[in-house]
Amino acid sequence: MRKFIVAGNWKMNTTVPEGVELAKAVLEKAKDIPANVELIVAPPFTHLVSVADALKGSRIAVSAQNCADEEKGAFTGEVSADMLVSAGCSYTILGHSERRQYYGETDAKLVKKVRLALSRNLKVILCVGENLKEREAGKHFDVVRAQIENVLFNFSAEELKSIVIAYEPVWAIGTGKTATAEQAEEIHRCIRSIIEEKFGPAAADDMTILYGGSCKPSNAKELFACPDIDGGLIGGAALKADDFIGIALSF
Ligand code: PGA
Repeated sequence: MRKFIVAGNWKMNTTVPEGVELAKAVLEKAKDIPANVELIVAPPFTHLVSVADALKGSRIAVSAQNCADEEKGAFTGEVSADMLVSAGCSYTILGHSERRQYYGETDAKLVKKVRLALSRNLKVILCVGENLKEREAGKHFDVVRAQIENVLFNFSAEELKSIVIAYEPVWAIGTGKTATAEQAEEIHRCIRSIIEEKFGPAAADDMTILYGGSCKPSNAKELFACPDIDGGLIGGAALKADDFIGIALSF
């Protein structure tokens, strides 16, 4: 069964006490959200234990924003899948465009990261999306297809059940410029058809595909009404509990 998800990516924002306050505020307001919508928050690494503690036993899952591509050992500054699980995470975001752009994250590295995360029962939110130049050159379908093939095609239909895709056009992230519902839906439909080609109709139908990029309460309803958009990965608007919940109420 396809899941509907609203996930908040806090990026490098909030101190630990601010993050715990934000998590508590989201929890407090979450009671009106339909039960079939899964809520996830993705705070920075330093916050995970405290935020997971504040949300313990609640309906809100905790995600990391990244995960190491090695199991353990001499990798200064890295955080492993085992550590994330022990901190209370059930998800990790992987392949966010900011990781790809600023930290040289490649599809090959992502395959290792996804494999490690899944081996520890961490579910994965895998981000894909084209940049402005690629969009203007009409290459967006090709770019997204390559990202999906290079990473997801290394996994089985069974493993796919623990993976969520987030389509995030880079030109829409943090810019206030949202993709129109038509632009987003056509890529989401394409992603689903790529999954279907490789893994069959059941896997394609079950796949949760989130939209990310300047999603806010005022545009979420139109986006979520599209048949292939199953929720959102929210950046800026996830830093205000009211906006985040407003988006989750848009189903
Ligand atoms: P944004 O970020 O909502 O601030 O555009 C989305 C994301 O990068 O996940």
